[in-house]
This record gives sequence, structure tokens and C-alpha cells, in this order.
Amino acid sequence: MRTDTGQTVHLEDYAPTPYRAPSTTLMIALHPTRTVVRNETAYEPAGNVDDPLVLEGDGLVLVEAQLDGMALSASAYEATPDRFVLKVPPKKRFTLTLVTIVSPDDNTELMGLYRSNGVYCTQCEAEGFRRITYAYDRPDVLTVYDVLVLADDTPGEPVLLSNGNLIASGKMGGRRYSHWHDPFPKPTYLFAVVAGVLGAVTDTFTTQSGKAVDLAIYVEPGKEARAEYAMDALKRSMRWDETRFGREYDLDVFNIVAVSDFNMGAMENKGLNVFNDRYVLADPRLATDTDYSGIEAVIAHEYFHNWTGNRITCRDWFQLCLKEGLTVFRDQEFSADMRSRAVERIEDVRRLRLAQFPEDAGPLRHPVRPAEYAEISNLYTTTVYEKGAELIRMLHTFIGETAFRRGMDTYFERFDGTAATVEDFISCFELDEPDAFMRWYHDAGTPTVRVDEAYVDGRYSLQLTQCPPEGGAIKPIPVRLAVLGQTGALDLSGAGVEEGSLCGDILTLKESATINIDGLNEEPIASVFRGFSAPVHIDRPVDPVRDMALLERDSDPFNLWDASQRLALGVLVDRYWGGSLEVDALAESIGRIAADPRMEPAFRAFVLQLPSRGTLVEVLAGDVDADKVDAAHQELTAALGAAMADTLAKLRARPAPTADDVRAAAAGERALRNAAQHLATAGGAREATVRQAMEATNMTDRLAALNALAAANAPEADAALKAFHDAFEDEPLVLNKWFSIEALRSDGRSVERVRELMAHPKFSLKNPNRVRSLIGAFTQNIAAFHRADGAGYRLLAEVATTLDQQNPQVAARLLTAFGEYRRFDAPRREAARAVLQDVQARARSSDVADIVRRLLKG
Ligand code: ARG
Ligand code: ZN
Repeated sequence: MRTDTGQTVHLEDYAPTPYRAPSTTLMIALHPTRTVVRNETAYEPAGNVDDPLVLEGDGLVLVEAQLDGMALSASAYEATPDRFVLKVPPKKRFTLTLVTIVSPDDNTELMGLYRSNGVYCTQCEAEGFRRITYAYDRPDVLTVYDVLVLADDTPGEPVLLSNGNLIASGKMGGRRYSHWHDPFPKPTYLFAVVAGVLGAVTDTFTTQSGKAVDLAIYVEPGKEARAEYAMDALKRSMRWDETRFGREYDLDVFNIVAVSDFNMGAMENKGLNVFNDRYVLADPRLATDTDYSGIEAVIAHEYFHNWTGNRITCRDWFQLCLKEGLTVFRDQEFSADMRSRAVERIEDVRRLRLAQFPEDAGPLRHPVRPAEYAEISNLYTTTVYEKGAELIRMLHTFIGETAFRRGMDTYFERFDGTAATVEDFISCFELDEPDAFMRWYHDAGTPTVRVDEAYVDGRYSLQLTQCPPEGGAIKPIPVRLAVLGQTGALDLSGAGVEEGSLCGDILTLKESATINIDGLNEEPIASVFRGFSAPVHIDRPVDPVRDMALLERDSDPFNLWDASQRLALGVLVDRYWGGSLEVDALAESIGRIAADPRMEPAFRAFVLQLPSRGTLVEVLAGDVDADKVDAAHQELTAALGAAMADTLAKLRARPAPTADDVRAAAAGERALRNAAQHLATAGGAREATVRQAMEATNMTDRLAALNALAAANAPEADAALKAFHDAFEDEPLVLNKWFSIEALRSDGRSVERVRELMAHPKFSLKNPNRVRSLIGAFTQNIAAFHRADGAGYRLLAEVATTLDQQNPQVAARLLTAFGEYRRFDAPRREAARAVLQDVQARARSSDVADIVRRLLKG
């Protein structure tokens, strides 16, 4: 384990290595506790030939060292678990052979080489390769790999996989071997090996230029049928990248392996993606529609990395958003094309506002392209990924699809085979002021845009003013807008524009901009930031009457949904403060959209969902009482459910799609019926919900009903949850859903319940998915996690401190839930601080130490 050194890495200190590593031959003889790794790498001078060769390691044991085939004398090098130094390297090309031994079964961190359910697998991004062998473990050193994997010839025909193309495989001296060659130079983080007894679904894909690619998805034997959907998603991703970006696949094979113990979602290793099995395995009986769309998105994301990440990689980890933000943008676009653009946008923005905006406003905030970090694992954040994708989207909005595609083509042409920077990328696009746009990458925090309207004597003026976040600069902001009259959008071509510039429906905003329209005979309303055209807070005077009017007039689905959410949020805030606003007007407005047959069902389902408790915490901003948040939310849900009873009953009576239809249209239909059911259940109409929870054969339906009962604290919830548990306890991914629903119950004994569940025979700190399903879900239970007496904070601290000894990445990730403790009232804040200080005193890994240090400081 890498213990805390408190050292910070700075972007400005970037320097290339003094040696290149053009090729590496690895021989990996797998063994559960004594895997032997023989690493023969060619090095050649690239800089100062007087520099020593300094390679990274992490917990390595060196057993042999040779230079150009001759044993090295002990004085020629220095080897510690975390470093190998060749003191005086030859001044020309040379080969260094290092043999190390590692123990996969003792690897609980799930970085480097480990075993999951008996299957050997690797995770090298960001710095896991150094846990396998000594190397220049950094993304700007590109190497051609030749890999020989050896394993005992155990029964059940184990498969042995690595990157690139298969050269040979077979048996030799009682062992199995396979020989892989990857012709594309790649950094260490994209290296992978997998070995074990696995089942597979296979297929072929013919690329646009007519090349056949063998596809395979490997899963636990017996679960092959559950990988069919992932295979279909993979083929659609491959086709889409050809049509939308002209990107073709480049190897003879593409393999995906699903493993059950994985720290993140998935990993884009060249030609051999390794996945958390939750993003591969699906069956309508066991997976929800959300699981299906998640699989489609993650399969696409990892596949798209082949060009944005692998063919063009990152110069250093400060450039992480270069591959992640861009690839998230690409997978969002793919999902929009596969499903519904409007619904995809709402989902993406909801996620951004719920996770990224709070991160950007709290102690863990950092720029999309940070200038420093203490632990790289902690930079795989929603800011780098989701805000990173928003920056690409703004770029796209500014220049339009045609110029964007042209810029992407230039990027692929100019930087293929290199390790690039964000500046390299931006330089490929025809932006008016690239340096001004770069500020989006340098500044942390979310800008606010103030929106003011005035109407006097037939003259309407719309004024927008940018207010940068603390310490931030003015940036170009694309505002997609329309000004709506009674009968539609006004023609803006004749409007007077001061300061900002208007091109089509896109206003480029700097400090401020004003649009004036004369000669009107009625007051119009502006629909601003259509499609959420920029990741900003919109500060506009609260006006329910205007929002109601927008609900009638706006043709932009995102803004329509946003207006409905603002209306609901207004009532929610009022409840929180003990106000007595009636729900009738809200019920009427959202009921009308929910029942509108012209809108797609998935969109209507979103309108029926109240803003989350987290959203309420966000707008309240300071001294929040978590119990009042919870009570206000429960109350309003119940009141709306009762007030909308008739509308909801009609929606629930819509014909159900077939249980095994997982296409988007069927998913939307189920979403609408279940959103109606959720409210109705809170309003007291529980009978049909109980039946659905017990009898539904489709997991989306069954889980939605169960959730509705649990969220409403229905008397039937206990029995329904027990039945669900007993029916699915042998299906790990389904049991995780059960753990999450239990963790989110909010009935005053949540902390105690979660402690009991930690003693459940199937709970284990070893499996990250299980930990996240119980403890991660618990941190989203606002009233329980933020319990005034600190019991929720202590629970998380105990788990994280224990986990810090085994899997620091997962421990650190859980602790980010403390990011918002300062928004709560004094007793909660003080309790959280005390608990964090305690975690800090006991922190062992650099991951946990870094997160806690930032939580306590910023
Ligand atoms: N590059 C992976 C992705 O597709 C994420 C892997 C991060 N893993 C880690 N241990 N930090 O987004
Ligand atoms: Zn990624």
C-alpha cells in the first residue's frame, strides 16, 4: 500500500523522461501468491544521457536484474519496493531485464494484478502497473508490448488474455500459455492481463473499410446469456463511432471481461476492456432499465476511449479530462442518438447538478484541469468527467456540429500516436478566443449568470450578467435562448444587442449582455440556457407565474422540465420553512404535462419526480436541518400523491409493456407508470404497489414498487423487502439493490439498521459493489447520514478507517460524502469535524489522507 507522504505533484514541473522505452517483452507466470514477472524493456536515451534511469515500483520484490543479458552487479543499481535506479545507464540503446514476484491473492486494493472470484485480472490506471513490475509508470512513455502469459493447466480450460492480437496459444510442459502482441505503442496504464475459467459470447463486426473484428465478452460461466445486451451495445458503439466521428477499430480482436470485484465502472485497456460486472450482466428479470442504459453507456464509453484516450493519450495526469471529459461527451451523444436526446440531456444535467455542482462549491473543488494533486486516484471526479464533458459541449455549441467534426478530424490527424495536452486539443478548433475558453479549464467553481427582464411601453429587454466564482475569471458562456410571445418564439434577427454577440439562437456572454426588442404589444418571456447550454447557476428572480407560463409556451424540453422543477422546489422550500403553500397549482401544472400524450413517456416521468432532498440542501445553502429536509420531502410527496390521485390512477392504468422488452420506448412507458405509482403510493394508494412488489417479473417494475413502499414508510414495506431478499439473495447484483433500499429507508432507525446489515452474512468489505450498495447508499440518506448526534458520520468514519487498511480507493471515495458537511447546522458541522479529525489521525493511505486533509482545510 502506498502510505501518505503528503507530497504534491505540480503541472508546471512536467518534464519528459530522459529515456524512451520503445518496447517491452513481459513473461507473466501466474500463481495465486507467487506470480513471477519477467520484464525485458528496451530503453534509449531521449534527454540527458548522464541522468540515471529511475523506474517506479510499489511493493515490489526484485529477484533478478540484467543489463543486455548480463547480471547486474549490486553496486550498479538500487532497488527498493517503490523504486529501481540504474545508476549509470549505457549512452545508447540497452535492454534491462527485471524479474519481480507479486502475490495476487494478497492484493486487496484491487490495483495491479489481483484475483476476483478466482479470475486473475489487472487494473493499471492510474498507477497500478508499478505494482506488477518496475517501469516508467506515466502516460507519456509509449511502448510496444509483447506478452507471454503462463498458467497452470487447471481443469476447465482457462482463457489467457492480454492486449492486442493473439499470436499463439497452447500447452507446454504442463502449463498453458498464450502470446499476445499489441502493435500500438501504449502507456503502462492501458496494459492488462486476464486469466481464468470464463464463459463467452462471441460475434464479429465488419468495419467500414471491410475489416473483420472478432468480438468476445467473457463472463462467469453460466452467465453468457446475460452478456448479449452488452454485445449488442458494443456493435452499435463501433458503428456509431464510424458514422459520427469517422473512427474505425484498429485491431483484429476486441475483448471485454466482466469481473465482480472492481474499484470503478470499467477500464479501457487496449483491446481488452475490463468491466465491473454490473456494467455487463443484464436480464430483464434481474436488471432494471437504468441498468440497461448504464451498460449501453459504459460499453460505449470504454470503446470510444480507443480513439480518445488510447490512440491519443494524455501527456500527464493533469490532462485526465482530455480523455475523460471528451469521452463522456461522446458517450452522452451516443446515448442521445440511441434513446432520446431530450431525456438524455435531463439525466445528464440532473447528475451534474446533484454531484458536480456541490463538489464545485465545497472543499473538494478543483479545476477541470487541475494544476496540482497529492493523490491521482482522487482526481477521478465528477468535475473531471461530467464538467469536463460540459466544456466539450460548450465548445460544440460555440462552433456548431460541422466545425466541431472538422476540429476532431484535425485532432485525430495531428496527435494520433502521441500523448497530448488540453491545449493541443483546443488548438484544433476554430474558436474565436481559445485562451479565454481555456479559463473554463483553469478555474474551479460554478459561475452564476444573473437574468433580468424588463418590459416598458412595448420595449422588452433581457439582461444577462456573469458573476464568476470566487477567484475565477470572466469566461465566454454560450447562452442558447429564445424570447417567447403568446404564439411562439420572437424573431431575434432585428433585436438590438449590446455587449454580447448573438449568432442564431446562441448569445456569447462575457461580463454582460442585453437584448432589446421594440414594438411589442404584450410582455414576452425569455427561455434562457435552453438544453442547459452552459454549466452555470442561473440566478433569476423567483416567479411561479412566469414558470407556469413557460410550462405552457416553451418548446425546449429541458427548460420545460426545469420550470416544472423550479415550481416544485418553491413549494418544497416553503414546506421546509413550515409554510402553508397549497400544492394544488403545482399538482395541476405537472399533472397536465404528465398526462400530455404529445410528450414522450420518459420525459413525462421526469416531470413527476420531485427535486431530490440533495437539491433542497443545495438551495438552502447554509445551516441546514437534515430532519426538516426529510420531513418536507416526505410531506410534499404524500400531499402531491393525494392531490393528483385521479391523474396518477389513469397513468397507472396504461397498458404495461412486455416484461422482457428492454428497448427505450418500453423503458419510458415503465418509467411513467412507476413515477405515477411512486407518488400515488405516498398518497396512500398502496394496494396495487404491494402486488407489483410481490409479483412483477420485470426487475424495473418490481424494484420501483419496492422503492415506493420503502420511501413511503408503508406498513407493507418490511414484508415486501423480506420477500425480495429471499427471492434474490443468490444474485449478487440484485442483492445490492436490496441493500441500497434498506440503506435509504428513513424511519428514524436507519443508522441502527445499517449497522445490523453490516453483520448480514452476505455483507463484505472486500467487494466494492457491496460496500457502495450499503454504505454508499447510506451516505445519500440525508436524515440518517447527517443525523444531528453524529451517529451517521461515525458509522461512515468507522467503515472508511477499516477499509483504509484494505482498499484505500474505495475508502477515500466513500469519504467524499463529507464534502457537504458545512452546509448543515452547527451541531452537525461540529460533529462532522470531530469525526474527520479522528479519521485523519488514523489515516494510513495517501488516498484517505489527501481527502480528509482537503475536507478539513478548504
Ligand atoms: N479510465 C476509466 C474510465 O473509463 C476509469 C479508471 C479509473 N480507475 C482508477 N482506479 N482510478 O473512466
Ligand atoms: Zn473513461
